[in-house]
Amino acid sequence: MNKTLLSFALAVSVSAAAQAFPTKPITFVVPFAAGGPTDTVARQLAEAMRKHLDNATIVVDNAAGAGGTIGANKVARAAPDGHTLLVWHIGMAATPALYRKLPYKPLEDFEYLGIINDVPMTLVGKPQLPANTYRDFENYIRANQGKLNLGHAGLGSASHICGVMWQYAVKLDKSMATIAYRGTAPAMNDLIAGTIDVMCDQTTNTTQQIEAGRIKAFAVTTAKPLADHPLLKHYPTLQEMGLKDFNLTIWHGLYAPKGTPAPVLQKLNQALRAALQDPDFKKKQADLGAIVAGPRDPRVTPEGHKAFVAAEISKLKTVIDAAGQYAD
Ligand code: MLT
Repeated sequence: MNKTLLSFALAVSVSAAAQAFPTKPITFVVPFAAGGPTDTVARQLAEAMRKHLDNATIVVDNAAGAGGTIGANKVARAAPDGHTLLVWHIGMAATPALYRKLPYKPLEDFEYLGIINDVPMTLVGKPQLPANTYRDFENYIRANQGKLNLGHAGLGSASHICGVMWQYAVKLDKSMATIAYRGTAPAMNDLIAGTIDVMCDQTTNTTQQIEAGRIKAFAVTTAKPLADHPLLKHYPTLQEMGLKDFNLTIWHGLYAPKGTPAPVLQKLNQALRAALQDPDFKKKQADLGAIVAGPRDPRVTPEGHKAFVAAEISKLKTVIDAAGQYAD
């Protein structure tokens, strides 16, 4: 068969594969425990995306551990056919500096499908914590150094990053003891039970608990107040509380294994962008304080998503190298 005919035959077979895609259930790998913020984003996104993927079945696989890198590696090694995708957050950019023996290369082993949202974080405490304002909270932590603990979801998780950033910003003499979980869903259970004292967690996991009075909230981590949210607007930003330049939101992105055929990637990116415009998805996310990426956000294109993550990797590497603490 001559070259032209071969390349034509290949082109036809690839586009036929794309037309047929998906040919089986799609798996969203979530690198943290079920019920947490990443899981919530993934399940809500799956519901919105499947409408644009011939109502495909999308299942969630919670592959937790090592700050999210176990789940990420599972997708990096998966068959590049578009049926196994990764839903992950800022950890994609923080872990390359923290885990010096990472089993995959973030910018080479994945196809970038687009950014999903930006999620604020909240500084929260157990219900028994003797503080009701951020000022009380900070003073209590300062007065009880070495006696209190902070829960997070492993080195490189959003809750870990935020906990380290906050302690650095308030210049505690002694770092808080930390307890690592397979996600902030199990950590939240222990915070409600009073087993752990403090956490910095995403509003997608804390809003309902704050509303129900099961935990206390003290501040949000965004540069600006969450003025549009009926509950979260009542909490000050850490900048308003004197922590100059404190600004942390947790972005989430969608990824496929490197080598996934271009027409399949295009179909997935189109389904993602349609989902980001889905009023029901946007409302569910907004109710939890999350801001879904808008249609003109450059990060919703594969190129824009990858460029953004590359910039985040270098920004976070500077911060992590300055702290000099690594996971391995
Ligand atoms: C989760 O989904 O459990 C969280 O994203 C963990 C974290 O990054 O804090």
